[in-house]
Amino acid sequence: RRIVVLISGSGSNLQAIIDACKTTDYPGEVVGVISNKAEVFGLTRAENANIPHQVLSHKAYDSRESYDQALVNAIDDYKPDLVVLAGFMRILTPVFVQHFSGKLLNIHPSLLPKYQGLNTHQRAIDANDKEHGVSVHFVTEELDGGPVILQAKVPIFPEDTADDLASRIHVQEHKIYPLVINWFCSGRVVMQGDKAVLDGVSL
Ligand code: GRF
Repeated sequence: RRIVVLISGSGSNLQAIIDACKTTDYPGEVVGVISNKAEVFGLTRAENANIPHQVLSHKAYDSRESYDQALVNAIDDYKPDLVVLAGFMRILTPVFVQHFSGKLLNIHPSLLPKYQGLNTHQRAIDANDKEHGVSVHFVTEELDGGPVILQAKVPIFPEDTADDLASRIHVQEHKIYPLVINWFCSGRVVMQGDKAVLDGVSL
């Protein structure tokens, strides 16, 4: 299966996906990487892995819709079966989301439906939560609201800073994202209506 990954930053999840794709019998390959920001480390990772990559800056477009249309066109050039958001820090318009409906995944650093949006680690600490986590979900028009496929939990310890928590979460992200992508590429997980279905069972 052909995978396009969208990034805006360091791309550690991109790296985990690239590494997984190199393992025996992995059912997908990253055929393109697009960043909305220039000079981010994720682009270097793509370069090092000999994966076609490009910058499509939102600054060159005067509306969210026109940028998203350009992004759709750039992605479609790679003829992907799956589009993976991996730290892509843009809110996507309905036209974009509908175009890739059922083949668009995101990873969000919280136990959804808790803490949609930004600053999730600090918000979990401020709320005195004892645990935190990360969710992989299908993307729908509702921001961070699409059906969840898999979550991983981590503990929050009393002295934790948001950075401590972010590092602990990253370790889990790098496990669950390649796993869910494997399921998707194997046809084991699909979006049906507003539900994620794994091996025929609604999640
Ligand atoms: C991750 O924490 C992910 O959950 C969030 O953005 C971060 C991306 O990190 N959506 P990286 O660029 O993959 O290292």
